[in-house]
Amino acid sequence: MSTRRKFLKSVVMTAAMGPFTGALLPALADIRELPSPADVNGVQSLRAHAEKHGLLVGCAVVPERLNKEPQYAGVVAAQANILVAENAMKWKALRPAPDKFDFSGGDMIVAFASAHRQKVRGHNLCWHEALPDWFASTVTKENARQILTEHIKTVAGHYAGKLQSWDVVNEAIDPKSDRPDGLRKSPWFELVGPDYIDIAFRTARKADSSALLTYNDYGIETDAPDQTKKRAQVLELVRGMKKRGVPIDAVGVQSHLGATDPAPGNGLRDFVRELRRMRLRVFITELDVNERKLEGSEAERDAAIARIYKDYVTMMVAESNVDAVLTWGITDRYTWLNGPKFSRPDAKPQRCLPFDADYQPASAFFALRDALDSRPAKSHP
Ligand code: G3I
Repeated sequence: MSTRRKFLKSVVMTAAMGPFTGALLPALADIRELPSPADVNGVQSLRAHAEKHGLLVGCAVVPERLNKEPQYAGVVAAQANILVAENAMKWKALRPAPDKFDFSGGDMIVAFASAHRQKVRGHNLCWHEALPDWFASTVTKENARQILTEHIKTVAGHYAGKLQSWDVVNEAIDPKSDRPDGLRKSPWFELVGPDYIDIAFRTARKADSSALLTYNDYGIETDAPDQTKKRAQVLELVRGMKKRGVPIDAVGVQSHLGATDPAPGNGLRDFVRELRRMRLRVFITELDVNERKLEGSEAERDAAIARIYKDYVTMMVAESNVDAVLTWGITDRYTWLNGPKFSRPDAKPQRCLPFDADYQPASAFFALRDALDSRPAKSHP
């Protein structure tokens, strides 16, 4: 049975989900065999090159596109051996009402991954963004802890045994925080208190004993002073968690890189090595290159972006505790970087991901593939 047939079957089977699912998954349109760039499929794909070195490579996905856009589904299936939900497993998507859960989007991603021999990351169980509209009027200091633990128990319980890892807490360190520990004064911090982080991780472990529990953050990649400070605060955060016996397995380095920022260097490498000494794994969780300020022709921009992919991923996969490289999307067509906040002054679409807006492999694709191949047989001990 073809992979696509298997996917269709698994999605229809998934439609008969538990009581939490929203509407039954829409019947899948026939997935026509659409041309996808054949010269980078199979043994030439990112996943084939990653698997030669025991690495995971993948991207953030949107279930509706997996379901309705065969070219999108085809490239994701061919190139990734791990997926993460861009938005479908956040509070806003999962919680249409205080007493309701809707797992349909997340379940479709899990079904797609199962049909294509892919793992799945969960993103995320606790964040200050993407909270449902009812949150502010419903959650109080008195009920916040119960609402947080019930969410994590239910969501991590629903996906127990099906995920490679969870981003349990996302972006808890705020570079602008006036606290020495840098903790962000998020709704969770204000309503539950600073121990919301430990509570979230302990609850997630009880609900899912197999997913690697991950702390995920951004702006910790370069040696710029603010990033160096934030990286040190993240290190102190996870060091304290380890000391308190909080179950944490990994750190996610989001890796939203800037094409005109200083290149990540020794500070990040030393951070990764310190995490290894603490017996923590490291994932590149949201890689893309924001090139809004990059000048030059398209070819010049592509070359600069490819250089960044190559140098960054080569540096990171040289470290034996770096297991996965996920980009934040697979095609420029849908990058979050084309939103109003980051669009280019010349209004040209950002070229920031391995595939361009027409699903053709960009220079970044080949640079990323070469970087995966640079993984030393015996990475740094
Ligand atoms: O689905 C609704 C749609 O129904 C509505 O018409 C539309 C206009 O209001 O909004 C749509 O929801 C948007 C959602 O993306 C899906 O497109 C939300 O407004 C928008 O805020 C949301 O943005 C996401 C953002 O996280 C906030 O959740 C981005 O797609 C997503 O790329 C971004 O990803 C984050 C990671 O989770 C954490 N690290 C940083 C990264 C980039 O910000």
